[in-house]
Amino acid sequence: MKNINPTKTDAWKQLSTHYEEVKNIHLKSLFKNDIDRKNKFTINFNQFEFDFSKNLITKETVTYLLKLADEVDLKSAINAYFSGEKINKTENRAVLHTALRNQLDNEIIVDGKNIMTEIKEALNKMSSFTDSVISGKWKGYSGRAITDIVNIGIGGSDLGPDMVVASLKYYKNHLNIHFVSNIDGDHVQEVLKNLNPETTLFIIVSKTFTTQETLTNATTIKKWFLQSASENDIVKHFVAVSTNLTMTNEFGIAAENIFPMWDWVGGRFSLWSTVGLSISLAVGFKNFNDLLIGAFEMDEHFKNTPFDKNTPILASLIGVWYTNFFNAETEVILPYTQYLTKFAPYLQQAIMESNGKSVDRNGNNINYQTGNIIWGSTGTNAQHAFMQLLHQGTKLIPADFIGFKQSLYGNKEHHKKLMANFFAQTQALAEGKTKQEVHLDLKIQGNIDDINQLLPFKVFSGNKPSTSILIEKLTPQTLGSLIAFYEHKIFVQGVIWNIFSYDQFGVELGKELAKKIYKKN
Ligand code: F6P
Repeated sequence: MKNINPTKTDAWKQLSTHYEEVKNIHLKSLFKNDIDRKNKFTINFNQFEFDFSKNLITKETVTYLLKLADEVDLKSAINAYFSGEKINKTENRAVLHTALRNQLDNEIIVDGKNIMTEIKEALNKMSSFTDSVISGKWKGYSGRAITDIVNIGIGGSDLGPDMVVASLKYYKNHLNIHFVSNIDGDHVQEVLKNLNPETTLFIIVSKTFTTQETLTNATTIKKWFLQSASENDIVKHFVAVSTNLTMTNEFGIAAENIFPMWDWVGGRFSLWSTVGLSISLAVGFKNFNDLLIGAFEMDEHFKNTPFDKNTPILASLIGVWYTNFFNAETEVILPYTQYLTKFAPYLQQAIMESNGKSVDRNGNNINYQTGNIIWGSTGTNAQHAFMQLLHQGTKLIPADFIGFKQSLYGNKEHHKKLMANFFAQTQALAEGKTKQEVHLDLKIQGNIDDINQLLPFKVFSGNKPSTSILIEKLTPQTLGSLIAFYEHKIFVQGVIWNIFSYDQFGVELGKELAKKIYKKN
């Protein structure tokens, strides 16, 4: 991958000049001056409609941003990413979560080996294990079928699977899925208190198998299990997902119960691998496979679509525009479905652990902003919590609104109201409400005496940007595409900012100190 300081490109200079020219243009006038604006900035992809029209952009903005993408040679970076070049240079690893969902017949070579063979084997193992647990063929030590699954993991070994299991709750079978992540002993106790060791299966998920939280929780759980069962019963109740076979063996996991992981999958991008075993158990392997297919479809769109119609690329470039020119510091994620409650916390790790970097690919400190702060919650709840700050606060916070045309249970009345709120929020943010409009409203309400006093507080400046992602229906496939969309957005921004997105050395110092402090006390 090239090593280009984005601020030294021609496009960056043009964007700086362009920013001065357009920074005060109101979204309302952009819409007024171009009645076709919505269509011009909307891209349809499968069951998705990406509407970028409510962003603070013009045709020229997009032209300069696309030029920036060309100048940093995004095209060859994408090729390097998909073909398995070791773009995670600081860890000397390829970044191939895309291979995990590859539906093509091509080979993908890492260190002289076609990894597609291992991936297929792992998927087959997941599939037969899933079937055997769901059907009740897999028995616990007392001969009873499994009723509960506990995923023991943290970070990427927890957030992704937990988010997908919650998001696909509608598609779930009879198995109860639990997640233990925090080293806070109360977390594990709260989960264990309602479980029966005879009918519970534990999945220890740790790429490295050295993570303090996961090993501590797994050890506590093993002790709890051995209070009612014997060492010989472990094989029926403990499986592991890891790259570290020595450590899994030391922990006492039977070789046949180990699901392989690979160093070319980053933890925060691993839900597509065997790390997603809890997903497969929760919704069945067919649905898990549909999730992979959806992600693959987004991969193909990203890989093959010209940049000006390429949704992850446009979203990334617009994000760079806000971060580096408007000085926006945060981005809010607002899914209008209760199923996606865990989507923002999941994206926090994916995005912030990837692009929270201040050293460029030459090893130099950088003097421009990188990774955004990600936060969010579901609508309409967010409207009654923090949306006040977006509408009338002092900060510019670009928002992603994610909505679905159909609800899953088909309650039309609720869904109509939900989506009315979705559209109302994006409109209110973009248009605002002028003094004149507020004045008229107050007059109609008969508040003549208070008008001048109240007026300033009731004005909405508007011009607050948002992107609307409207999806036909929440299915494993559309969820897969949505997650992959954000994964590629991360990649593109990392390329533009000239940083290494796939290491996470920033989490190490705290871990080291915690170990020292623990030993001292
Ligand atoms: O501490 C951060 C981190 O390394 C994440 O990147 C990773 O997802 C998580 O810890 C868990 O790591 P592991 O799967 O190796 O236990």
